[in-house]
Amino acid sequence: MDLSVRIGDLVLSNPFIVGSGPTVRSVEQIRLASGSGWAAASLKLSIDPAPYVSFPPRYRWWKKAGLHTFTAERRQNTDQALSLLEESREASGAMSLFANITYSGVDPEGWGALAKRFEEAGADAIELNFCCPNMSFNIQASGATTTKATGASLGTDFNRMSLVVEEVASSVGIPLIAKLTPENGAVAEAAAICLASGAAAVGSTANRLGIPDFDIHAPAGSVFRLQRQLSLSCLSGPWIRPLALKDTYQIRRRIGSDATVIGSGGVSDLSSTVQQIMAGADALWICTETMLRGFAWLPRLIEELEEFIEDAGCRGVRDIRDRLHDHMAPAAELSIDAGRAQLYIDKCTGCGACWTIGHCLAISHPDGITTVDPGLCTGCSTCVDICPRRAFEMIRTGCQAGPE
Ligand SMILES: Cc1cc2nc3c(=O)[nH]c(=O)nc-3n(C[C@H](O)[C@H](O)[C@H](O)COP(=O)(O)O)c2cc1C
Ligand code: SF4
Ligand code: SF4
Repeated sequence: MDLSVRIGDLVLSNPFIVGSGPTVRSVEQIRLASGSGWAAASLKLSIDPAPYVSFPPRYRWWKKAGLHTFTAERRQNTDQALSLLEESREASGAMSLFANITYSGVDPEGWGALAKRFEEAGADAIELNFCCPNMSFNIQASGATTTKATGASLGTDFNRMSLVVEEVASSVGIPLIAKLTPENGAVAEAAAICLASGAAAVGSTANRLGIPDFDIHAPAGSVFRLQRQLSLSCLSGPWIRPLALKDTYQIRRRIGSDATVIGSGGVSDLSSTVQQIMAGADALWICTETMLRGFAWLPRLIEELEEFIEDAGCRGVRDIRDRLHDHMAPAAELSIDAGRAQLYIDKCTGCGACWTIGHCLAISHPDGITTVDPGLCTGCSTCVDICPRRAFEMIRTGCQAGPE
């Protein structure tokens, strides 16, 4: 079984990387992550010359929605990050350490000089933060102005981004990873540009920017405790999986099979791990799940991944990677089976949930008895998902349904 992943000259023992964030900002966290078998950790973002947006953290975990949100977050300055890197060397053991950096000046040379300092301090790779939507990108998206262009702001400016990658690639000998934002609407193109400019690996999705579920009776209030206003917020966790999978899929399609892709966004278990790999990821940045559950759950996940790969008759991550690609049909080439809903009336309690499906003309309830007219059923299957009693099933009635 081979779970190893190559990023330039660096080989990770498995695909699991603690994503940059609040669980990678102390030596003790590094020790715990290493002890649980994480292959790498991306240290918390450092901003040079100084973190121009940095607050004590205020988070919300919307458990029911599987959504994590935040705006206020503490960043590091370069000296803090360099100290953390140096002090973590022993605690990290076999685990690789990545420096997640952004430079807030305008000259690409500043990026090169910054990356060099982290290389000299012992970083195994440099992660260029073209992804954080929570600093200058947030300021501009909120309608305010700033002269800064870091994180996702840079990730939406392809010219500057490629100059930065070129500059850093010529300044350091360790691999460069470009952590990208899909906020530009063209994350696959951004990935191709970064690889052409010298990055050894690319990946998305960090956080998406959105507005959390606020209280309509108190819109001036905040959903964040100990934070007075609402703010455009970073979304992560299981909720962003479908978007994150699409980003990985599109990046892989665009750049071909050779380059290394790191996926991220809502990975928390075997299924979400394998989904990312099958969409095209070689490795994974995981953050929210480490915030909620720490690090010690990884060994079990690694076992499960090995079992899954073995059961599939394969020997490594690479063998199951991209499996989704042959099965993803373009919208115009779908094969749709003819069929209809079958109601098992003995299971129906007459709760009425299916009676009001707005797009369905087939379900009626004469005398309170749920009835389906097969001639009016379009086969959409919404009733199957709505019925709390599992009284519906879809049955295939034959050959493929033709286009209308
Ligand atoms: C509180 C928090 C802070 C984060 N800080 C950083 C950061 O400093 N640098 C970075 O590249 N990504 C940062 N991220 C993004 C994560 O590393 C990760 O890519 C993203 O949250 C999606 O993965 P997840 O759903 O597993 O959290 C942060 C995420 C969270 C939730
Ligand atoms: S499959 Fe769609 S159209 Fe048919 S009964 Fe169910 S909800 Fe109505
Ligand atoms: S949703 Fe299910 S249980 Fe409720 S009325 Fe419809 S078939 Fe019966």
